Amino acid sequence: MSARHFLSLMDFTPDELASVIRRGVELKHLRDQSVLFEPLKGRVLGMIFEKSSTRTRLSFEAGMIQLGGQAIFLSPRDTQLGRGEPIGDCAIVMSRMLDAVMIRTFAHGTLTEFAANSRVPVINGLSDDLHPCQLLADMQTFLEHRGSIQGKTVAWVGDGNNMCNTYIEAAIQFGFHLRIACPQGYEPSARFLEMAGNRVTVLRDPYEAVAGAHLVSTDVWTSMGQEEETAQRLARFAPYQVNRALLDHAAGDVLFMHCLPAHRGEEISHDLLDDPRSVAWDQAENRLHAQKALLERLVAPGYRPA
Ligand code: CP
Ligand code: NVA
Repeated sequence: MSARHFLSLMDFTPDELASVIRRGVELKHLRDQSVLFEPLKGRVLGMIFEKSSTRTRLSFEAGMIQLGGQAIFLSPRDTQLGRGEPIGDCAIVMSRMLDAVMIRTFAHGTLTEFAANSRVPVINGLSDDLHPCQLLADMQTFLEHRGSIQGKTVAWVGDGNNMCNTYIEAAIQFGFHLRIACPQGYEPSARFLEMAGNRVTVLRDPYEAVAGAHLVSTDVWTSMGQEEETAQRLARFAPYQVNRALLDHAAGDVLFMHCLPAHRGEEISHDLLDDPRSVAWDQAENRLHAQKALLERLVAPGYRPA
């Protein structure tokens, strides 16, 4: 199948990623000026959600509507996907009716199998391994607040989860150094670490990781699908809470990001989202703008990057 997919940041070149993010900034300005821009008139995005979502669903749905198209929410509960229809068969059928498909799922293999059988672009809306759309928003947010992230130091504090794996890919694609502070046994996947080489350092001490960092990011300690491990994780991750005292060890102009939803009192202190160094609300809004840029690139007929 010849369609272009976005399952990982590695599916785009660094130049393509930079262009999507710059376009996200432009589309945000157009919307702020109430300019109607509808290059996706008549186009339809299917959205398969095997896990819960607020931001991803809303940003893709609102984004498609704002671009002149429409989005259809598909839950496995109400489709034949939930009754065992093979994923490849679903992909063949759905991609004959839709212009793009966004999937939030558990196993990353579900995405790759769907994409292998799809005539239209497939977008990763989060898997157990990766959350690339979130990183588009994070990188747009850094650009807007601080300019280029190339050569900067980023600290990831907490679980070596799907977000952490994606930060590793971002370190490669956007050219920053990533320090990860996580408890033993909760490191990111070895294959991502191997791919990143010396762009990434894994540490145990969160203070060492954030020292002088320009961006500090974290995420929940228990991701979707790991609920049974909650008590054990709460105990293991307790020394890894990001709070104002920890951020004070970072660079003077550090930004704090959290993909949300946040658990105040766990991975962040109660007051952290109110700290002036936090840009989490801008980050959440940028899901909309960055993904509109992604949709335009993947779906708009005759799209030519600037
Ligand atoms: N950050 C993020 O993907 O949020 P949702 O789970 O609400 O989509
Ligand atoms: N790591 C979290 C991200 C949620 C947006 C999860 O997978 O649940």
